Amino acid sequence: MGITTQVQPLLINYKTLEEFKRFKEYGIQELTMLEDLQSNIVENNSESPFFGIYIGNALIARMSLYRIPAKYDNYFDPPQDYMELWKLEVLKDYQGQGYGQQLVEFAKSYKLPIKTNPRINSHGFWERMGFQKATYKVERDLGENPLLWLPEGVHEQVEE
Ligand SMILES: CC(C)(COP(=O)(O)OP(=O)(O)OC[C@H]1O[C@@H](n2cnc3c(N)ncnc32)[C@H](O)[C@@H]1OP(=O)(O)O)[C@@H](O)C(=O)NCCC(=O)NCCS
Repeated sequence: MGITTQVQPLLINYKTLEEFKRFKEYGIQELTMLEDLQSNIVENNSESPFFGIYIGNALIARMSLYRIPAKYDNYFDPPQDYMELWKLEVLKDYQGQGYGQQLVEFAKSYKLPIKTNPRINSHGFWERMGFQKATYKVERDLGENPLLWLPEGVHEQVEE
């Protein structure tokens, strides 16, 4: 590979929020960030839960990643801090070139378990990344179909 790109934390500012509009999963989370910026509830260039990959000046892939404290862990055994991953998306022209995998590997580099709720049609990708379906529990998962990534020595939580 000739070009090396890096995963970067994305700061909340007007440029980033404008670039987010190119992603299909633009929604209430991004609109709220924009409103908070406009009304000075958040400062320009404050931290966001997003990480992304730039090619030149253009954001071509992104994900949200948030560390959930162990006291809220209902997925892993032993219960522990874990990473919640959502809104992983690579812009169409850049798909199939390893950028999705690069973002997932960045998430794995925290050495914590990962939980994600995949979009329809992306199961093949997640399986390739070593994620497995969580045992469905209605009271916990409701409309979600969570996928889990388990680092060595970590197991899925089972009913006591
Ligand atoms: C799903 C998505 C995040 C994957 O990112 P990407 O950068 O395109 O994927 P990568 O190039 O990193 O792929 C890594 C590996 O997963 C495989 N893979 C990617 N998408 C796949 C899919 N839908 N099904 C099965 N395998 C897939 C690749 O072939 C590659 O395998 P390899 O290492 O053997 O070559 C990205 O394509 C995306 O945002 N898609 C948006 C729409 C969507 O969800 N599409 C799902 C497919 S219809």
